[in-house]
Amino acid sequence: MIKLGVNIDHIATIRQAREGRFPDPVLAAAVAERGGADGITAHLREDRRHVQERDIRLLLEMVQTKVNLEMSTSSEMVDLACLLRPADCCLVPERRKELTTEGGLNVVDHTERIQSAVRQLNRAEIRVSLFIDPDLEQVQAAAEVKAPVVELHTGRYAAARSPQQFKKEWDKLWQAAALAQELGLIVHAGHGLDYHNVQEVAAIPGMQELNIGHAIVARAVFDGMENAVREMKRLMREAALAGACV
Ligand code: PXP
Repeated sequence: MIKLGVNIDHIATIRQAREGRFPDPVLAAAVAERGGADGITAHLREDRRHVQERDIRLLLEMVQTKVNLEMSTSSEMVDLACLLRPADCCLVPERRKELTTEGGLNVVDHTERIQSAVRQLNRAEIRVSLFIDPDLEQVQAAAEVKAPVVELHTGRYAAARSPQQFKKEWDKLWQAAALAQELGLIVHAGHGLDYHNVQEVAAIPGMQELNIGHAIVARAVFDGMENAVREMKRLMREAALAGACV
């Protein structure tokens, strides 16, 4: 059954606004699990703007499901991941000034660097996923560097404003997911998914996991974290059971 990874970066962002002790993303993770999260995702950025190393260490001790550490491909981060040993690592491109992760990894142009990171993480028995745009060349390259998982970037799909654009972006996700599975890759997706656009992505055949943060934390402001996670999971499961619906 399709899984939900809850990204708790935004809880850390609120805490860092005052550089204080609350709200604690580790507590948010526990509540998200109570609402049905199948995993907790946190992006430890090089500039440490939200999640801190302390959060990852505590998450690794406290999370009952699994931790997915999102990070750049730099050798410092790969070494740190090998030391911390989360179950999963999602490699993403990182730019200092960006508001959030913009675009996927360019595996085609940076094969060597990405392959070396994947190799080191595979050796440490961390399951690696590459965050890539739904682009067939990138999917092919992800398989060539022997990453077991790809996370398809749903940002453009989520930003689509007309039914035509929405369909075009969904088609790209569907095709990338189909090719990835043909090549033996596990398929995840995420970025910009919310309560209105999640079902079409959850219904893509073979979709195994969605990573969602902003919409859940935003909903939690009014409904509480547990209810926000429970409702997202309900929508995902309903769509996955009904099958492709676009
Ligand atoms: N997946 C990846 C790789 C991301 O970088 C992010 C954003 O941190 C997400 C999923 C979650 O995106 P959102 O917060 O828009 O749900």
